[in-house]
Amino acid sequence: MSGEMIAELSNPTVHMRDPQRVKEILQSMQKAGSNTIQVISDFDMTLTRFAYNGKRCPTCHNILDNSKLITEECKEKLKDLLNTYYPIEIDCARSIEEKLPLMVEWWTKAHELLVQQKIKKDLLAMVVRESDAMLRDGYQLFFDHLHKHSIPLLIFSAGIGDILEEVIRQAGVFHPNVKVFSNYMDFDETGVLKAFKGELIHIYNKREGALLNTGHFQELRTRPNVLLLGDSLGDLTMADGVQDMENILKIGFLNDKVEERKQSYLNSYDIVLMKDETMDVPNAILLYLTGNK
Ligand code: TMP
Ligand code: MG
Repeated sequence: MSGEMIAELSNPTVHMRDPQRVKEILQSMQKAGSNTIQVISDFDMTLTRFAYNGKRCPTCHNILDNSKLITEECKEKLKDLLNTYYPIEIDCARSIEEKLPLMVEWWTKAHELLVQQKIKKDLLAMVVRESDAMLRDGYQLFFDHLHKHSIPLLIFSAGIGDILEEVIRQAGVFHPNVKVFSNYMDFDETGVLKAFKGELIHIYNKREGALLNTGHFQELRTRPNVLLLGDSLGDLTMADGVQDMENILKIGFLNDKVEERKQSYLNSYDIVLMKDETMDVPNAILLYLTGNK
């Protein structure tokens, strides 16, 4: 199919359950026009790289965990949590229902440990600067193109809002069309972390998070065509708050345990990008949707 429509859809990393359906959704969205489109994207391992030169790249939490703001003892504990819970996160033998309480446990324990570390707000920019955080290749075109066409981008992350904002600010792409739903840090009057604000967002409650933010989706009700980008099956519910949805195209990055998880990703995402560290396919789709302008 797509060979003729969007050349990148023939890339070897691209897998689709139903290419014809993808083509129809894209044609329908293109016809409706770029002023009817909104983009909803996960952050960690979706907008950021999974690995670089064979080495894993950090999530928002990892950026803090690996920094000099955390004591060695606490680093050990955070590493133990990661080694316990990350394999559960990506285990395809367990259902989401089974994983959910364990993910809440991970987030709760990790946030408790971070709060004990008396992290200073004014050191976060340095921590991000000194980290190995990396946005995917092609991120600049992605963010700049959305900005140029005034297409709203919602970054919906179970990571840490303060950290992810700093990553995109330092990359020069925190444009005014970008909005973030995430876990934000709460600092005391001396600028020391005392808690996390509001309802916890973890990997499997994005639906609830979306439904709490009806105001945002109400503002965007003239944009019923959604491009969704994620890397976890929990990201599929990020658009559940969208009103009067007409079309949704779901693009999933499959980074880890690729063979084991391929079928479940193909069943739920329209386009699955296997071990693809770039934004090439989302960018080609955006260019197509905006008439290559
Ligand atoms: P995301 O929804 O923006 O991708 O963020 C969730 C990721 O954060 C998920 O892949 C697990 C990861 N994570 C850590 O790396 N360390 C932690 O301590 C926690 C709680 C989550
Ligand atoms: Mg993610």
